[in-house]
Amino acid sequence: MQAARLHETGAPGKLRIEDVPVPEAGDGQTVVSVRAAALNHRDVFITRGLYPKIVLPRILGSDGCGEAGGRGVIVDPTIGWGPDERVWSPDASILGMPADGTFAQNVAIPNENVHAKPEHLSDEEAAALPLAGVTAYRATFVCGGLRAGETVLITGVGGGVQTFALLYAKAIGARAVVTSSRDGKLERAKALGADVAINYATTPDWHKAVRAAVGAVDLAIDSAGGDSFAKALSVIKPGGRAVTYGGTTGDATIKMFPVFWNQLSIFGTSMGSPGDFAAMLAFVSKHFIKPVIDRVYELSEIESAMQRMDDALQFGKIVLRIPSA
Ligand SMILES: NC(=O)c1ccc[n+]([C@@H]2O[C@H](COP(=O)([O-])OP(=O)(O)OC[C@H]3O[C@@H](n4cnc5c(N)ncnc54)[C@H](OP(=O)(O)O)[C@@H]3O)[C@@H](O)[C@H]2O)c1
Repeated sequence: MQAARLHETGAPGKLRIEDVPVPEAGDGQTVVSVRAAALNHRDVFITRGLYPKIVLPRILGSDGCGEAGGRGVIVDPTIGWGPDERVWSPDASILGMPADGTFAQNVAIPNENVHAKPEHLSDEEAAALPLAGVTAYRATFVCGGLRAGETVLITGVGGGVQTFALLYAKAIGARAVVTSSRDGKLERAKALGADVAINYATTPDWHKAVRAAVGAVDLAIDSAGGDSFAKALSVIKPGGRAVTYGGTTGDATIKMFPVFWNQLSIFGTSMGSPGDFAAMLAFVSKHFIKPVIDRVYELSEIESAMQRMDDALQFGKIVLRIPSA
């Protein structure tokens, strides 16, 4: 079968399309014939060697939609979450490293990670959903506790996960304040219902602009880390919440007094439990949510797709169409 495999780290262009053996289903596994896959920033980080426990060669890819047992399916990329809803087990992992992933015509995954594809989604839309969809669901609702009528700050709205946070917030009737590096992405966010949109690249004091526009927010969701997380904390209401699921720009230095004086709650989250994944699928189906697709590439164009993510040009999810075997 065809697959995009990484043999050495160094740059996003290091993935190579190759002929590799079709995986066999191990004990308790299903082989999914993949029709579409999607990129996540972790794929870029892995190609740069910025990820723990890299095993090579490996087929990358955490998101996928395809066919198994004669039905349309999508994959839950969290493998072995474990028994505690609050946190994954130390043995948990993410599909696509260390296990071979979805940038291939077939992928072997645990039976319990195979789910029926939501009926309202195309193959490309369904492929865009799993990793970003469940991370955003847990960040927004399970950890962030967002409710109708509340205001949420979503920093860096152009990203795969953050576009889902915006869709989810608007689906339940929350108010969304978003930031992004580009005006074009802010326009697209407004078209999806963002109530206030601020360019963090041209407005370094964007947190003051948030204050001026809405006062303070109930919840902030951030994956940029660094300065972005510190500024996000400064616009949260007393008693409000912050959720972080990433540190794209590095570590943050935060002011302690407002955190304890205003009794803020700060949650860290990663991926989602099987229960979160099932709840996310039910939510997406109930609200007819369609993932925001930035662009669809052929598997053979993986280098351009990875480059687009590395250049931060995308708004939403970058999808790969996988040729049928
Ligand atoms: N813990 C987990 O389970 C988990 C799951 C998924 C992702 N993540 C992490 O979350 C991050 C985003 O992942 P992704 O796949 O959604 O990536 P992505 O689609 O490539 O998006 C990158 C994001 O970074 C934002 N960004 C970059 N610099 C920023 C800055 N200075 N201030 C504010 N935002 C900034 C971009 O915002 P604009 O383009 O709008 O400017 C965009 O939202 C990565 O660090 C990833 O590893 C973690």
